[in-house]
Amino acid sequence: MKWLVFFSLSNTVWAGVQFLGVSIAGGDFGCQIDGSCPTGSTQLPLSSFGQGGGDGDGQMKHFVQDDGINMFRLPISWQSLVNNKLGGTLDANNFAKYDKLVQACLATGAHCMVEIHNFARWNGAIIGQSSGTVTDEHFVSLWSQIATKYARNDKIVFELMNEPHDLDVPMWAATCQKVIAAIRGVGATTQIILLPGTNFDSAAMLVSSGSAEALMALTNPDGTTDNLLLDIHKYLDVDNSGTHAECVTNNTAAFGEVAEFLRRIGRKGIVSETGAAPGGSSCLAKFCEQNAFINANSDAFIGLVTWAAGSFGTSYLLSATPSKQGGKFVNNGLMAQCVVGTWKDAPDSVHPIPTSLAITASLSPTTAASNIQSAASNSEKASEIAAPITSTTQTGQSALILPTPTGPTDTPTTLILAPGISSVLTSDSRAASAVPTTTAGSGRATTTPSGAPTATTSITRSASGSWSTNLQSPTGKLWAILGLFLVAAAL
Ligand SMILES: *[C@@H]1O[C@H](CO)[C@@H](O)[C@H](O)[C@H]1NC(C)=O
Repeated sequence: MKWLVFFSLSNTVWAGVQFLGVSIAGGDFGCQIDGSCPTGSTQLPLSSFGQGGGDGDGQMKHFVQDDGINMFRLPISWQSLVNNKLGGTLDANNFAKYDKLVQACLATGAHCMVEIHNFARWNGAIIGQSSGTVTDEHFVSLWSQIATKYARNDKIVFELMNEPHDLDVPMWAATCQKVIAAIRGVGATTQIILLPGTNFDSAAMLVSSGSAEALMALTNPDGTTDNLLLDIHKYLDVDNSGTHAECVTNNTAAFGEVAEFLRRIGRKGIVSETGAAPGGSSCLAKFCEQNAFINANSDAFIGLVTWAAGSFGTSYLLSATPSKQGGKFVNNGLMAQCVVGTWKDAPDSVHPIPTSLAITASLSPTTAASNIQSAASNSEKASEIAAPITSTTQTGQSALILPTPTGPTDTPTTLILAPGISSVLTSDSRAASAVPTTTAGSGRATTTPSGAPTATTSITRSASGSWSTNLQSPTGKLWAILGLFLVAAAL
């Protein structure tokens, strides 16, 4: 009998998002929201090209060495990669230049996001929604070729498209499904693929537009959803365009809604574009609040990437470009405090109060009740046992849900698991580095209860909603407090 317990842990080493990043822009310069991108406007951010581009190489080294940043987003236009030939092969010269930027990024040790900056369009025509002008096959061809080039590097992240808008969501999801199949099909089987929704991928609209649901229903060819992540953007200005100096929101409502959605279905996302004006009114307060919130919800958001450095100068409205002072790169105040600072300062235990816990069994019998020795300390809670899991991610398993505490005087609930439990799967990817033993399944880390297999394993939810367990990591360190969430949606 083997059990998998899904939860996310609060632990000092896991504060904040796993990936903190910066866009190293320039390959996208000239791109309009109708998907036209004049190749003459491209300004790749490598000073060695002599195109007037920024010193992306130096900037990335600075961000990694001085700030611990571990992800860069490298925008490029579709037109540039195929030298204006829709459906054509990668242009040897243009791709070689872009690849030089990618290799400079990889050389820092960071994860590197390849991102097509075309708003789901080519010169005004929507991919797969333009009566055959620009087809899914055109787009699939592009991604097959890119993925072939990077199939052997698992630090490459494929961001399929920047900010789709004004399109049919189910059709767009169908397009993305074909691209996922193509990328995996050429051997890029382990890389993260980021899936963007309509309304410019706005966090405020991803759930209500149906984008999040449609995109998170997509699968790899083997039927899994491994490394398929929701792509999320949001600005703080009045029309979410990132073109105004004034910040009017900290976006916690919008990001909270997306986090809740992801948590409910047991999936993850990356905030791959957000930013604010270093000199803008209210931006220091609101951008810091926003990013602290994103870090606090790192069970749902594994990455946060700010816009932008690269070929942007330090006077660009949303500049994250460091200035050269005495031969060294120095971040502006907004970048230092709200991007790097909120990440480094993210508290140890930042997850919201847990609302439910699911225990799932991977083997038969498929009713939880028969595998749980004793459960609730009162009959009302015991009756919650054995709700079958119906969500697609956990078909065939069984579950137990402990209800949300009703208040500070609610009765503590202890769940005593059956003897012989041998593994725990966390839903927090950062647990994998702290608890390195991995196991098959959709989670990432395993451990054993102290003294397994004979010891009794228990998980207790206190009246205040905090969780504790006698499970220990392989090093014997007690996981005293678990910030717990549950992954089984539909429950
Ligand atoms: C975000 O702004 C709202 C409204 O002003 C405020 O209530 C909330 O506390 C802020 N969130 C954070 C994380 O500061």
